[in-house]
Amino acid sequence: MSIKILLGVSGGIAAYKAAELVRRLGERGAEVRVVMTAAARSFITPLTLQALSGHEVRCDLLDPGAEAGMDHIELARWADLVLVAPATADLMARLAAGLADDLLTTLALATTAPLVLAPAMNHRMWLNPATQENLARLRDRGVRILGPAEGDQACGEWGPGRMLEPGEILDALVLGADSQLAGRQVLVTAGPTREALDPVRYLSNRSSGRMGYALAESLAARGAEVTMVSGPSALAVPHRVELVAVESALEMEAAVMARIGACDLFVAAAAVSDYRPQATAEEKIKKNQAELHLHLVKNPDILARVAALNGGPFTVGFAAETRDLEEQARTKLAAKGLDMIAANLVGGETGGFERPENALLVLWPGGRRSLPLGPKARLAEALSDLIVERYLADAASQDS
Ligand code: PMT
Repeated sequence: MSIKILLGVSGGIAAYKAAELVRRLGERGAEVRVVMTAAARSFITPLTLQALSGHEVRCDLLDPGAEAGMDHIELARWADLVLVAPATADLMARLAAGLADDLLTTLALATTAPLVLAPAMNHRMWLNPATQENLARLRDRGVRILGPAEGDQACGEWGPGRMLEPGEILDALVLGADSQLAGRQVLVTAGPTREALDPVRYLSNRSSGRMGYALAESLAARGAEVTMVSGPSALAVPHRVELVAVESALEMEAAVMARIGACDLFVAAAAVSDYRPQATAEEKIKKNQAELHLHLVKNPDILARVAALNGGPFTVGFAAETRDLEEQARTKLAAKGLDMIAANLVGGETGGFERPENALLVLWPGGRRSLPLGPKARLAEALSDLIVERYLADAASQDS
């Protein structure tokens, strides 16, 4: 199935490169529909992009004729990816502010597809604190930014602000067969598990699913076929990720083991309950005793089971610790025989469970990288980069 890309073109001189971008996206098997801002039409005509994409170019939000076909909400739903190239300083400011004052910004608000921007502007505009603040806000929301490059600018000056070349954008998007994880099956666990005491009560933990969901999304954006086995979470299922919803650790184990044979990569971000009640009462437990003693039994360690498989997938675990982070994580890395572990401090003032931000210490045999405190979406991108790097190095060493 070809990837559906909504290409937004805003009004800068680099808009002329959109023509080549559309052509080359098509060559890589993408289906492209183009939306232009009013200013973009001063630099390149809709007809050019229509001829190259094979579809009518959309320009206006309030266009009854166009809306009678695929309306803007349908268009937002249609896209697997929204790419804005070039993204001007003005467009970035409007996106950062959450405005919906034209078709492109409205689509960016309405879509659940990943948003990727290729900025292009004068270097002073790029370095202006206002633009840098907008950039940080967009990044924090998980928007991916490609470039800009440094070099000669159309205004005759030199500096950062040139839009990446179409080929560089394509490489960064890792589309189709060129994708780093194209055709790879990835299984991610996420969220908490619930261990039922009776029909109304359970034992659980504070995991919201944020870290696991962000990782599933960023691995899917690298072209992988991602299945996410998740305990209960209020979060929306990320784009291009297949959800298998479970409740208990035993259900999670069954769901993982049923799918692991076909997997290339396994990432265990779930906070699996280590213990479960030995028995689940069939009726609600009455409060007529002064004390209630629970008899807990150990749950299977899903991650350790996967890591012990003969010829199993590249396996990445997490370690949630309240102290001695590195020491405990090193012990888990070795004891479970993992390829990589991402350790985080939990139960403190920042990061860990529930919160939107986190910090990770990533360890693998012979390596170590600290990923500083930041939004989980940004952290997931950095961790995915590392996972891909180590996974591909591991696969190459097995081939040789
Ligand atoms: O969901 P959030 O609110 O965003 O919070 C994110 C997080 C803190 C839950 C996440 O970053 C994290 O650390 N997940 C792992 C939590 C955990 O269970 O850590 P652990 O150190 O107890 O377990 C070590 C590893 O073994 C984990 O990869 C865990 O998924 C796995 N495990 C543990 C027990 C078990 N029975 N089976 C397992 O697979």
